Amino acid sequence: MKIGMLTGGGDCPGLNAVIRAVVRKGVFHYHDEFVGFLEGWRGLVEDKSMALDLDAVGGILPRGGTILRTSRTNPSKRPDGIERCAATIEKHKIDALVAIGGDDTLSVAQKLHEHGVKVVGVPKTIDNDLGGTDYTFGFDTACNIVCEAIDRIHTTAEAHNRVMVVEVMGRDAGWIALYSGVAGGADVILIPERPFDVDKVAESIRQRHERGRYFSIIVVAEGAKFSSDGSGAPILQDMGKDEFGHAKLGGIANILAREIEKRTGFETRAVVLGHIQRGGSPSAFDRVLATRYGLGAIDMVHRGEFGCMAALRSNKIVSIPLKEAIAKNRVVDNEMIQIVDGLFEETGVKEAAGQ
Ligand code: F6P
Repeated sequence: MKIGMLTGGGDCPGLNAVIRAVVRKGVFHYHDEFVGFLEGWRGLVEDKSMALDLDAVGGILPRGGTILRTSRTNPSKRPDGIERCAATIEKHKIDALVAIGGDDTLSVAQKLHEHGVKVVGVPKTIDNDLGGTDYTFGFDTACNIVCEAIDRIHTTAEAHNRVMVVEVMGRDAGWIALYSGVAGGADVILIPERPFDVDKVAESIRQRHERGRYFSIIVVAEGAKFSSDGSGAPILQDMGKDEFGHAKLGGIANILAREIEKRTGFETRAVVLGHIQRGGSPSAFDRVLATRYGLGAIDMVHRGEFGCMAALRSNKIVSIPLKEAIAKNRVVDNEMIQIVDGLFEETGVKEAAGQ
C-alpha cells in the first residue's frame, strides 16, 4: 500500500518514535511505501511532502520534535480546505493516511473520513487529556521534566524561605500538574477541574509556615481558574486565537504569586516552565508507548479499520472510533483528586469554598 503520514498540533516527545514504528513495520512486514506530509494539515492543503523510507527514520527514536514538522493548520478554516486535502491524497495515489495528533488534528481526520478518505488516528498530547485512551505519549516525559524542575525549585525555595509558584501546561485537564505535583512533593496543586479560592490557598500556606515550615511549593496548571472572580475563565496571555479557536493560556503563576505574597507577607516567586515541557528526548516509557501506538496503527491500516484511532486500554493497544476519542476531553476525575487529597492535612488539590 502507499501510505501518507502527518503530525499535527503542538509537538510532543515520542512523535518520531511513532513515525519510525509505522514505517519499519510497514516496510518489513507489509512492503508498504510511505509519503510524509509536512507541517500537519498544511502539508495536505498546500501539497508539501517528503519521502519517508527506512533511511529517513534511521536514528530518530530518541529525538524530540517531529521530522515531519507540525502546525495548527485547520483545513476547515481554509476555502475548500477539506477538498484540497482529499485532492492531494488523490494526486499522490495514497491508499491510507495515518494522522498523529490531539483532538483538533483528529477532528479533521474524522471530517476527511466522512469525506471518503481512509484514515487511521494516533493519539498525541502531553496534556494526557484525549478521550478514549488511558495515556498519551509525551505525558510521561513532560512529568519527568516538571518533576526535575520542582526538585531544583525546592532547594532554592528552602534556601530563601520563599513560596514558589510553578506553572505547568494543562489547558483543560490538570494531569501534568497532578502527577508532577505528587512526584515533586508540592504543597498545593491547582488544576482546571477544580476552580480555587486564592484566600484558601494563602491560608493553607500560612498554616503550613505556622507549623514550622518556612518555604512552600505550589504547582498550578496554566488552565486553572480562580473561583473568586466568578467568571470561571482561565488567564490569557493575549486575545489571539489559533485556527482551532484556542486562546493562548499562561500567566496564572505571576498573578497567583502576587496575591499569595499580598495575603501572607511571604516572599513569593513565579516560575513558568512553558515549552521546556514539550522539548527534548522522550522518556523510555514514552518511546515504548509511542512505538506500540505506531505498530498498532499500521496493523489497523492493513485490517481496514478506517475512521478509527489506536488507543491504550488496560495496557493493550485497541482500535476505537475516532468519533469516540474526540467526543470529550478526559479530565481528572473526583476519585483521583480524593486519592491525592489523602496526602494533605486539608485538601492539597485546592477547591473553591462551598464545592
Ligand atoms: O499541546 C497542548 C498544549 O501543550 C497546551 O497545554 C498548551 O496550552 C498549548 O499546547 C501551547 O501550545 P503552543 O505551542 O501553540 O503555544
